[in-house]
Amino acid sequence: MLKKLDEIKSKAILELGSVGGLNSLEDWRVRYLGRKGELTNVLRGLASLSLDERKVIGASANEVKALLEAHLEQKRAALKEHELSMSIELGRIDVTLPGHPLPCGRLHPTTQIVREICAAFVAMGFQVVEGPEVEWDYYNFEALNIPPYHPARDMWATLWIDYETETGERPMLLRTHTSPMQIRVMERTRPPVRVVVPGKVYRYEATDATHESMFYQIEGLAVDENITLADLKGTLYEFARRLFGQERKVRFRCDYFPFVEPGVELAIDCFLCGGRGCRVCNETGWIEIMGAGMVHPNVLKRVGYDPSIYTGFAFGLGVERIIMLKYGIDDIRLFYGNDLRFLRQF
Ligand code: PHE
Repeated sequence: MLKKLDEIKSKAILELGSVGGLNSLEDWRVRYLGRKGELTNVLRGLASLSLDERKVIGASANEVKALLEAHLEQKRAALKEHELSMSIELGRIDVTLPGHPLPCGRLHPTTQIVREICAAFVAMGFQVVEGPEVEWDYYNFEALNIPPYHPARDMWATLWIDYETETGERPMLLRTHTSPMQIRVMERTRPPVRVVVPGKVYRYEATDATHESMFYQIEGLAVDENITLADLKGTLYEFARRLFGQERKVRFRCDYFPFVEPGVELAIDCFLCGGRGCRVCNETGWIEIMGAGMVHPNVLKRVGYDPSIYTGFAFGLGVERIIMLKYGIDDIRLFYGNDLRFLRQF
């Protein structure tokens, strides 16, 4: 029987050499590997053998089968290749026809501006870092000089994570701003610190044309010896002009955030009306673009920085608002509504 197997093998391989098309290849397959093929017959005959013989011959038959199958696939591929080149040669396939167009995606407008803004600060020596969107109360509020029950918490409508400690507190939330990263960065480094932090933030808010429950902020933090309000002003002035045009004027006014002292709000003169007053600037001639201030001594103390040696400034801006201003977009809900007619414009 082993001899028979050997014969089948040589015969099959020899015949395969003269197979010239896919149809005769199929005939060959049926003849040797088919349900009533020669090899199958041998395998069927195994039943009448003793156990020992069956083992030897069965193994050998399976080997031959695997070999023939491998040859079959090889031949099939070769024949297909050949047929394809023949049809090109005969002009049955017109290779000059245009192909199927590949759809090409693009970066989301938010991603584009986040990169542009970060690049402006990187050029001034800042590093880009990112942090968690699910945050502890400690980082989002407490370490930022906002203790429990402090009324300033109302400035951020908070989405709490449904997680309670044994004492019934809910210490976990979706960060309402990127400011918690001020603390995380300072905890793990010593001055000098220069970072910008882009990322998503969340608010418990009904959505309308100017409010979303998820949006992007970019935080900035610089801490070192001898940093003053003049550094804050110079840095943000430079930034505003890079992003909104060299002729921009900036205006700093007092504002309140618990983690800075003094706190300021930064506005640029309206680039649409040049300060005369229009729809974009609400007839005021000025457009507010971010909150900022000198890092509060309590915040520095909390992370073990000596406020008599180190000072710093921080700022936070809302990314979508800036894009809306830049391109005259009047509804923030367009950003994450997944309407390609909107997104393809960027
Ligand atoms: N985190 C503040 C907000 O979301 C903005 C801010 C950041 C203000 C840093 C001052 C300094 O409203």
